[in-house]
Amino acid sequence: MSDTDSGRASLGKKLCFAKDRMTLLLLLYNVFMAKEKSVYVCQACGGESSRWEGRCSVCGEWNSLVEETRQNSKFQNPNSKNKKVIPVNLNQVKSFTNSRISSGIGEVDRVLGGGFVPGQVVLLAGEPGIGKSTLLLQIASKMASVLYIAGEESPEQIKVRAERLGINQNAISILQETSVDEVILNLKPLATEQILNLIIVDSIQTLTTEDLTGTAGSIGQVRECAFRLSEYAKANHVPMILVGHVTKEGAIAGPKVLEHLVDTVLYMEGDGNHLFRILRTTKNRFGPVSEVGVFSMGDGGLCEVANPSDLFLSERLKNVPGSAVTIVMEGSRPMALEVQALTSKTSFGFPKRTTSGFSLNRLNLLCAVLSKRAGINLWDQDVFVNVAGGVTISEPSADLAVCLAIASCIKNIALDPKTAVFGEVGLSGEIRKVSRIPDRIKEARKMGFGRMVNGEGFRSLSEAVTKTLVKNDQ
Ligand code: TYD
Ligand code: MG
Repeated sequence: MSDTDSGRASLGKKLCFAKDRMTLLLLLYNVFMAKEKSVYVCQACGGESSRWEGRCSVCGEWNSLVEETRQNSKFQNPNSKNKKVIPVNLNQVKSFTNSRISSGIGEVDRVLGGGFVPGQVVLLAGEPGIGKSTLLLQIASKMASVLYIAGEESPEQIKVRAERLGINQNAISILQETSVDEVILNLKPLATEQILNLIIVDSIQTLTTEDLTGTAGSIGQVRECAFRLSEYAKANHVPMILVGHVTKEGAIAGPKVLEHLVDTVLYMEGDGNHLFRILRTTKNRFGPVSEVGVFSMGDGGLCEVANPSDLFLSERLKNVPGSAVTIVMEGSRPMALEVQALTSKTSFGFPKRTTSGFSLNRLNLLCAVLSKRAGINLWDQDVFVNVAGGVTISEPSADLAVCLAIASCIKNIALDPKTAVFGEVGLSGEIRKVSRIPDRIKEARKMGFGRMVNGEGFRSLSEAVTKTLVKNDQ
């Protein structure tokens, strides 16, 4: 063999070796580096860790590490294509007022502030079984061209519900998929080919992305999937509803972690034992907050309740001691509710206080005010308070009704059945005025209550007790 030949052979060997080393290096890079798509970030201090730890090694905070995406992600933010960013004069910005898309259900439009806005992301939160999927299917049937992304139920299960509801199924398309990246890939051609009026994601806790290792429903997955979907909705100007489950214990990866990501948060509330459901807005970038929609759940799904006061007072017994009707404001809407109280002699040394639909702390405070300022002794009485219909009152305007219901039960004198009571009770036993009194009085009159007991006619709790609970009134 000549010198040139042996030189060529050794060069060939060297190249082979180099090629092998390159493959090996590439392999090692793929194994150790390329897979590092996610990192665990402490939500308290921002410290990073490559794996999940119960306690942040930087700040020492417990349970604060949440998985987030790193480089190498396949996901491309549709809004970040090195666009030139130019400021726009506010006068030239398009107004949303004329571009609202009606949901076809009056109570839903009311809580949204007039309908959906293009690109709006709505989070619909509620306990499992409360009726979220039912409401969404009813909304879908009223709108033209809706895509229902079903992560929880099969198309057949949705079909059974649609048949039970007897709704128009023509405009509803079902996409059964739990990978958010697949969903977005499948959505892209849809957005260009046809006009989608609404996208429903039921539920966000079932979706996952391969870029994170956490399981479906973990904080990291829920947050990342919601972010990717909302980017899509915003880029394509399609309204989107994300369903989020809340559990009684308050799930860690529940809707709370999404509230800052979405434009509107709707909570569906209600008691499984009662038929009514309340849809409440707690955040709305495009409309009023604290607005409520009232529904009743029946065999044909959710029906709108135009006059909630009628529903909540329908089973009231008149001339019964321990009952008072109050008018609370739910958003811009006044509602008449019945507060019931029962007192009974304490069998053990320590008197018990129990409430349903009213704050226990507030009840303890009102019992103390009643004893000290109105001469109603409750030290040897168990007190039970219930808001009829399973509603929860969060307004202080119900204080006076709670106090009068308790006093009425202790004295065994019923309030005049045509009396409506509202007012906040202070620690000195004074009755404070509450907001929107004219609206409350109007609602009370509409429901047939001619006598108002509130901060305008009565200065103190003791005056209200002595003047409204008179034996001759019966
Ligand atoms: P669903 O919408 O599946 O609840 P979520 O999506 O919030 O988990 O509602 C389930 C409940 O609603 C179930 O208990 C049955 C009841 N329901 C009715 O009472 N009437 C109906 O017409 C429908 C469709 C459901
Ligand atoms: Mg459901």
